[in-house]
Parts: sequence; C-alpha cells; structure tokens
Amino acid sequence: MLVSFSRRLRSQRILLLALLALLACTAPAGCQKNSASFTIPPEDAQRKNPIEATPAEVEQGRRLYTSSDCAICHGKDGDGKGVLAKDISMNTHNWHEPNSLAGITDGELFFILDKGKGRMPAYEKRQTSEQMWQMVDYIRSLAGR
Ligand code: HEC
Repeated sequence: MLVSFSRRLRSQRILLLALLALLACTAPAGCQKNSASFTIPPEDAQRKNPIEATPAEVEQGRRLYTSSDCAICHGKDGDGKGVLAKDISMNTHNWHEPNSLAGITDGELFFILDKGKGRMPAYEKRQTSEQMWQMVDYIRSLAGR
C-alpha cells in the first residue's frame, strides 16, 4: 500500500519534470541556451581570432553583417537598437560604446555567434568560421579599437 503510493508519487514527479523540460524547450530561448545554464568552455574563450583585423577584413565583416539579418536585433550600425530589440527586451549591447565588450574575448564573441545564446541565434550552419571571425573583427572595430 505504502510502496504503491510512493511509486505513484514518483511517477507523478517524473511526469512533472518531463512537462517542465518540454516547456523549457519550447520557450524562445530554446533548450539549454538560456543565460542561466550558458557557459563557454575555456578553450573556446581563449581562441585567438585567426583573421587579422586589417581594413579589408573589417570591411568584409561589415558586408557580411549587413547582408545577414543581424541588424534586426543589433541595429543597422551595431548600436543594439534593432527593430526586434526595441519591441522585445533584448540583452543587446551598443558596440560603439568602448566598454560594451570589455572583458569579453574574441573567442567568446565567436562562440556566441557560432552556437547562439538566449535570443541570439546560432550561425554555425549559415556562415563559415572565416566569415564569423571577420564579423568579430567588424564588431570590435566599432568601438574604435
Ligand atoms: C533575433 C535577434 C538576433 C539576431 C538576428 C542576431 N543577434 Fe547577436 N545577439 C542577440 C542577443 C539578444 C544577444 C545577447 C545574448 C545574451 O547575452 O543573452 C546577442 C549577442 C551577440 C554577440 C555577443 C556580444 C554581445 O553583444 O552580447 C555577438 C558577437 C553577436 N550577437 C553577433 C551577431 C551577428 C554578427 C549577427 C548576424 C550574423 C547576430 N548577432 C544576429 C540577438 C540577435
């Protein structure tokens, strides 16, 4: 009697957990991508940008940024005020602010662009690594450094 009661309790708990997992996966942030569980492996964070930020590479990064859909969230010039960001409260930065990306490594920027984070989509299937590094160069250049 007691055993079957606790078994029932356990199966109810499993059901509840399954339901919660399902809800978490349909949330806009997607599975495992919400900020709370978001971590960047140290080896990714330490990756150096293989594309030197020469004017030509920065310009290529700007072209890629402009021809992709980045601006709807990050703004046409990377000021963080894209049309979507205005409507939904998004955690976008104004990349022209010198301190906006202080303390964030190129490897971390690349990782977020590659894998996505929260409302930031993953671009690994749409852009090559070289293109993403070029966009990192462009984004960095906006702060004038
Ligand atoms: C649907 C909206 C959306 C689109 C489209 C989008 N981003 Fe983001 N992006 C975000 C949000 C929101 C964050 C902040 C994520 C966080 O920290 O929670 C972010 C973060 C980033 C970061 C990390 C640095 C930072 O400011 O937090 C980089 C780099 C980045 N985006 C580049 C890009 C590029 C390049 C594109 C286009 C190829 C792009 N994003 C498209 C929403 C978007």
